[in-house]
This record gives sequence, structure tokens and C-alpha cells, in this order.
Amino acid sequence: MNFQPYFLSDSAVSIVAYKEAIDTAKNAISQLCEQSTQPFSGINSDQLIAAIENLDPCPESGILLRNSLNTINDIILNNSVLVHHPLCIAHLHCPPLIPALAAEVLISATNQSMDSWDQSPAATLLEEHLIKWLCQVFGYGKSGDGVFTSGGTQSNFMGLLLARDSFADQHLNWSIQTQGLPPEFTRFRILTSEVSHFTVTQSASLLGLGANAVVSIPTDDNFCLDINRLEAKIAELKADNLLPIAIIGTVGTTDFGSIDPITKLAEIARKNDIWLHLDAAYGGGLILSKKHKHLLNQIWLADSITVDFHKMFYQPISCGAFLIKKAENFRFIKLHADYLNPETNQEIGIPDLVTKSIQTTKRFDALKLFISLQTLGKSTFGEIIDTTINIARETAEIIDNYPQLKLATKPTINTVVFRYLPKKDNLENANYINNKIRYQLIQSGIVVLAQTKVKDFTHLKFTLLNPQTQITDIKKILTQICVMGEEIEQQSKHSSSELSSETYAYTK
Ligand SMILES: Cc1ncc(COP(=O)(O)O)c(C=O)c1O
Repeated sequence: MNFQPYFLSDSAVSIVAYKEAIDTAKNAISQLCEQSTQPFSGINSDQLIAAIENLDPCPESGILLRNSLNTINDIILNNSVLVHHPLCIAHLHCPPLIPALAAEVLISATNQSMDSWDQSPAATLLEEHLIKWLCQVFGYGKSGDGVFTSGGTQSNFMGLLLARDSFADQHLNWSIQTQGLPPEFTRFRILTSEVSHFTVTQSASLLGLGANAVVSIPTDDNFCLDINRLEAKIAELKADNLLPIAIIGTVGTTDFGSIDPITKLAEIARKNDIWLHLDAAYGGGLILSKKHKHLLNQIWLADSITVDFHKMFYQPISCGAFLIKKAENFRFIKLHADYLNPETNQEIGIPDLVTKSIQTTKRFDALKLFISLQTLGKSTFGEIIDTTINIARETAEIIDNYPQLKLATKPTINTVVFRYLPKKDNLENANYINNKIRYQLIQSGIVVLAQTKVKDFTHLKFTLLNPQTQITDIKKILTQICVMGEEIEQQSKHSSSELSSETYAYTK
């Protein structure tokens, strides 16, 4: 059999097959963009399940790539949320930069594996180079270090893991890496705000500390961690013979973009000798904006930082980093495998990134960030971020002028959270109407927006990451939300059980 059309090689057949394949994929995406009048088809899940269940994943004899892509185009691409569309404004789910898409072609074709130097010599060094740059811009300088991760979940997990192991090492003279959890582990506590990301609790569970180890600290009116309550809680925990091992601050909460008071958190952490991890998965991008980087002032005071590049650095999923203030703290996860990263490599200065990662095989995601930073430059990145912040502020002002709409808080970065205010503003009625507004809008496909709960009330959420979103489009959507809200309110004699069955029909 001739395998040349299936693998890259120096043969003409292989090169032609590669170019044709990439051209076919490129054309499918170009066509998708040209025809994308709205961000979602509005298809319901039952129809989609039926269409997908009909596909044969592995026929006995293969079909032409063109034919496979035609089917994918009809069923998958046409029913995907179109993240490049200016009205795809639900989550921290960015439109990817075009230079990064070009980089993805190189990343997948060269398929470097970032675990050991012998699988990715130049790529390893480029990731290290970018990590040095990140350490410098985030203020860690030469003593810092870091590693690319799959995103915020993994970076937060690593932050808590190092906090836990460093506490046991320093205060209990105990190596969790070799001995497992110490007897005192049931007394370990992690402090974080009530609106921090759920992965803090998830990490505590995965690290064997249990979700109950996470102590939730209330926020102020702007959804920032209340420092006085934090100090009081630490004192209370200590009085109860419990062991605060980590404070997790958020630099850009998922719903509100709120930023916990970094300097004060650092002061409290230092005073109490507690590891400070800052989850800047969302807000980390502000570092590139001359106008807004002051919001990250003193971020280097943290022991570790999460940054996500598939949010405000506009990278295709996945792409994130975990940064630490003191490089030596990676010792808590360091392992050597003879076949991969033998100790002799380290002795002669060969960097194997697996030594500071919890992943083994790992993509060369650093390349897409590098190419994006180089081609756009800091100033264009900054302008993109500033533009989205302006759009969010303008959106909030418009919302403030509608008597039927109520903002949850002023936006700090580029998320806007608000709700339709029905005349009968009790919890059940208000939540029913806001749920239904969102459901109908997504079903229509004209906008993809999110919802969240604030103090038990269902709110609507715009995450305005796309600098191409026009305020005129936002105005139209807001008007439509008011009209829909009023219509639903008028028709509404619905019970909550009717609502849940409708919601179920949409989500299942
Ligand atoms: C503040 C924050 N932290 C962590 C995460 C998790 O990041 P990821 O989805 O990249 O794993 C998110 C995701 O939105 C987030 O908003």
C-alpha cells in the first residue's frame, strides 16, 4: 500500500496531499466566516444528537477528506458557536488571532513534544525564552520560573499543589511527594473569596484536602475579597488550631472581572507566612495594556500566578502558563525518568520541561503566543484590550439608562452582568423571565450570551472580548431583551416546573 498521501515526507505525493488537505480545511473555515451572519444556528440538542449519531466514525474503507469535511461542515461547523462573531459574547472564550491560527498549522505539523529536550530541542528553548519574558513582565525577574499549561484549571491546581507541599516541607518537615499527606492534613485550610473560580475547590478535592478545606471569604459590593473578613478568618482558624496554608486571590473574577486587593493580600500572606496564589487567568492580559496594567500592580508579590492565554491574549485553546516567584519551588513536583529526563541531563544543563510540569506529552503552545506577540506587538495588544474595556463600559452605561434593566456592578474589565427587572420582581418570576430571555435569544441564534446567579437572582452576562463588537449591535440586543422580557411577563402565568422542563429541552 502507498502510505505517502497520509504522512508528511519529502515525496511529491506527500507534499501535494498535505497542501490539498490544508487548503480544503482553510476553505471550509473561510466559507464559514463569509457566511456567518449570526453566531449560532439555533439548532436544538435533539436534532444535533440525531445528526451526530448518524455519522459512522470509522468506515471499513476510508472516504475522501473533501467528503469527510463536507459532512463536518454541514453538521459540526454550521452548528458550532462562532467565536469570531462579534455577538458571540457568552464566556471567556476568545476569538483567536489569525497569526496564532497560522502558528497552529506549524505546531501540529511539527508535533514537537515539550516533555523532553530530545523531542523538542528548539521548541523547549523557545518556551523557556517566553517564560523568562513572562517572568520579567509580571515582575518576577530572574528568580522566577514557569511552564506552559493547558489553562487556568491546571495552573490553579499547580499553585495549590506547591502551596500544600511547601507548607508541609517548611512547617511540618514533611515531604508529601515521598510520604503522602501528613497526619495534620485534615487541619489544612485554603482561603479564597466567595466568587473565586470553582477550580480552587476542585483542586483542594483532587489534592486530597477535601472541598471542606476551602474557606470562603465574603466580598465587598464590587465583588472583591473583603480584606478585614480575611484577616479575622485567619485569626479564627488559628485560634481553632487549624492551619491556613494558602490564600487564593483572583485577578479578574469570571463573572465580574473584579480584582482582589493584591497588595493587601500579599501583606496578610507575608505576615502569616501563607502561600499567596493569584489566579490571573482572566485579568493577566491587562499586563499588555499601558492604560490598565496598573490594575496588576505588585502582582509579583504572589508566590505563584495563573495566566491564561486563551482568554485575553486571544490564543486558540489551549494555552496557559503557571508562573512561580522562586524557581526552586518546582522541586516539589520534580521526578526523573531514565528514558525521558535523566538526572544527567540536568547536570549538563539540558532543560527537560517535564521536570516542572504535571503533564508529560505537551503541545508547543508557546509558539502561537510568541508569533502573536511578535506580529501584533505590545501596542496593538494593548489597543485590543482597551477597546473591549471601553465597549464594556459603554454597554454598562446604556444598561444603566434602561429602567427595565439592572446592572449587578460596574464592569472592571470587559464582562457586563445585568438582569431584566420585571414589574413583579420576586425571585421566582424574575429568574423565570431572565432564564427564558436567554433561552429564546440563543435559540434564535442572533446572540450567544451567558447567564449566572448573583445573590440567587439569575443574571444575563455579556463577555465582551471581541474588539469588533459594535455598540449599535449591543443596543439592538438590549432593546430586544426589554421587548422579550415584557412579552414573557405578559404571557407569564408559568409555574417553575414548566420553566425547568423548557430549560431541560434546551440543554439536554
Ligand atoms: C478566573 C478563572 N480561573 C480559572 C479558570 C479556568 O481556566 P481554564 O478554563 O483555562 O482551565 C477560569 C475559566 O474561565 C477563570 O475564569
